[in-house]
Amino acid sequence: MLILGIESSCDETGVALVEVLGDAPPVLLADELHSQIKMHQPFGGVVPELASRDHIRRVLPLLQATLDKACRTLSDVDVVAFTQGPGLAGALLVGAGAACALGAALEVPVLGVHHLEGHLLSPFLSADPPQFPFIALLVSGGHTQLMQVDAVGSYKILGETIDDAAGEAFDKSAKLLGLDYPGGPLLAKLAEHGDPAAYKLPRPLLHSKNLDFSFAGLKTAVLTQVKKVKEANAIEVNAVDSRLRGNDQEIEGRLTETQIVNLAASTQAAIVECLVKKSLTALASSGLRRLVVAGGVGANQHLRESLNAECAKRGIRVHYPELRLCTDNGAMIALAAALRIQAGVAVPAKDYSFAVKPRWDLS
Ligand code: KG4
Ligand code: ZN
Repeated sequence: MLILGIESSCDETGVALVEVLGDAPPVLLADELHSQIKMHQPFGGVVPELASRDHIRRVLPLLQATLDKACRTLSDVDVVAFTQGPGLAGALLVGAGAACALGAALEVPVLGVHHLEGHLLSPFLSADPPQFPFIALLVSGGHTQLMQVDAVGSYKILGETIDDAAGEAFDKSAKLLGLDYPGGPLLAKLAEHGDPAAYKLPRPLLHSKNLDFSFAGLKTAVLTQVKKVKEANAIEVNAVDSRLRGNDQEIEGRLTETQIVNLAASTQAAIVECLVKKSLTALASSGLRRLVVAGGVGANQHLRESLNAECAKRGIRVHYPELRLCTDNGAMIALAAALRIQAGVAVPAKDYSFAVKPRWDLS
């Protein structure tokens, strides 16, 4: 069975072909991705209307490129899967519309997939796939959740963020440091050169008894630190000999390179410590010995190193998606559809009256 997957929930258009042969693990034949980051960058964030229009432009050329790469044609496709939610309504409608139109034209069934289920199951495409049951840490730009996953389709939310998501905390802090959107990966890169103990930042809810997260306060703390450091820089500049002012005006009211990397490292350390601590608590209280990390922030090297080190001490195995499949892509959508069909928890239907779900609880 050949499954075509289409992802268009936010600022990436992804298309993929996954093949399912009986009960064997699904195989990714080919995938294509177009990121809209450059288009949104001048606006400092995703502009929903521009995102929808760009998905329209990209989806069919990406589909053709995917088919060509896999040496298949449209007539080989047996099921068309698409991201039904959560995400931006207009962006989701493009993928859903394209998928249902293709389904109707090819007279094959279609299946709407939950975007987070795609992230959650994406490690099954890695060289070291997990086995059920496991604890999942889902960390993306819009979500931060800890879940107990017993099987495909069986997801129990153990805790989640009560305000900002981890990716949002990375992106918003990066913006405060003057980095371009989406700042998360850039902040992580700068953090490699900084001192994580240089600035004292809060670890919200670190010692709370539940498995919830909170990152909004951290962003405010970063803002306060940035303001303080900038003010101190300005005072220092004003105090120097006027002969030096020509050069020093460069940094007046700005952050120096050292301050930026130190703030980046301190911010990253605070976010990662919260994610690691709560993941370990979830593992300990469930008694499970397997952790799956998925979503864009799962690409963060410091998070991976910390989790690997802590889990190794406790004899817990950690699974990640391939790095390139951490952020949004079509492969995870085709894969989630494949696993749902194999597990018998979803049956694709020749129902082309599509509806999207911009807000949709995974459990
Ligand atoms: O899963 P994803 O692609 O999209 C959503 O479904 O939200 O996640 C995107 C998020 C962004 O906030 C981005 O800054 C963050 O993942 N991200 C990272 C890294 N790579 C992506 N955050 C920290 N370190 C990274 N290396
Ligand atoms: Zn995502």
